[in-house]
Amino acid sequence: MKPLSLFQKKPLCIANWKQYLTLSESVRLYARFQTLGTRYFSSCTIAVAPSAISLAMLSSKSSSVLLGAQQGGIAQAGAYTVEISPRDTRTSGGSFVIVGHSERRQIFGETDVLLRQRLEATYEAGLVPVYCVGESRDIYTKGFRAVKKHLTTQLSLLKGLNGFQKGIVIAYEPVWSIGSGTTPTFAEALAIYRSIREILDGLGILDTKTRILYGGSVQKDNAAGFLHEGGFSGLLIGGASTRFADFRDIIHSLEHIV
Ligand code: PGA
Repeated sequence: MKPLSLFQKKPLCIANWKQYLTLSESVRLYARFQTLGTRYFSSCTIAVAPSAISLAMLSSKSSSVLLGAQQGGIAQAGAYTVEISPRDTRTSGGSFVIVGHSERRQIFGETDVLLRQRLEATYEAGLVPVYCVGESRDIYTKGFRAVKKHLTTQLSLLKGLNGFQKGIVIAYEPVWSIGSGTTPTFAEALAIYRSIREILDGLGILDTKTRILYGGSVQKDNAAGFLHEGGFSGLLIGGASTRFADFRDIIHSLEHIV
C-alpha cells in the first residue's frame, strides 16, 4: 500500500474540528472515521485537524486517516507561551498545519508577518501548510475583481518561501460562507479556482504538489459540485466534519469523482 500523503491522485478532504469537540468526543469520532470502509478511502484522502490536545492522543492510532494541526508556532521551540510547536505536531504524527484560517485572522488578529513566520516554521519542521485565503462579504459584494485583488494580496505572502518542494495546500474559504450555510455558486467557485491557479502560477509555485481546496458550508449536497464544476481538488470541512453521518455522506458523494 502506498504511504498516505496529501498529494495522492484523489480528492483531499480535511476535517477541521476547530474547538467543537471534547477530547473524548474527538477520540470517538476519530475511531469512527477509521472504520469507514475501503470504498470511502478510495474516494478520497481523508485528513483530520483536531485540537492540539486531541492530536497528541490520536496520533498513534492513525492508519488510514492523516492528521494535522489547526495551528503552528513560529518556531520549533522557545519562549512562546500557548504556541504549538510544528516539531511536536510532526512527532505526534501530524503531516500538515493549517495557517491563516479566517478565524485566526479575524478573531485573533493574526497578521501577515505572523502568518509568514508560521508558514516558514511549518516547512522547517517538514510539514505541509494548508494556507487559507478568502474574502469577506464586503469584498465579495464589490465583485469579482475586488475578490481577485484580495486573493492576490493574501497569496503573495507565499512569495519566496522555502519548502514548496514539499508541496502546498491552498484552501479557498470565503469568510461569508464559513458556518453560514451559504456558498458561492459553482460557476463563481470555478472562476475563483482559475484565478488562484493563475496567481500561483505568477508566483512560480504551481506544480503537481499544489492542491487547491474549497471550504465554507460544505455539505453532502454541494461537495461534489465544488470538485466537478468548481475544479477544486478537495474540501476543507468544518461543522459537517464533526458529525459522523454528515462527513460520511460527503465522502460518499465524491465516490465517482476519482
Ligand atoms: P464550515 O467551516 O464547513 O463549518 O463552514 C469551514 C472552515 O472554517 O474550515
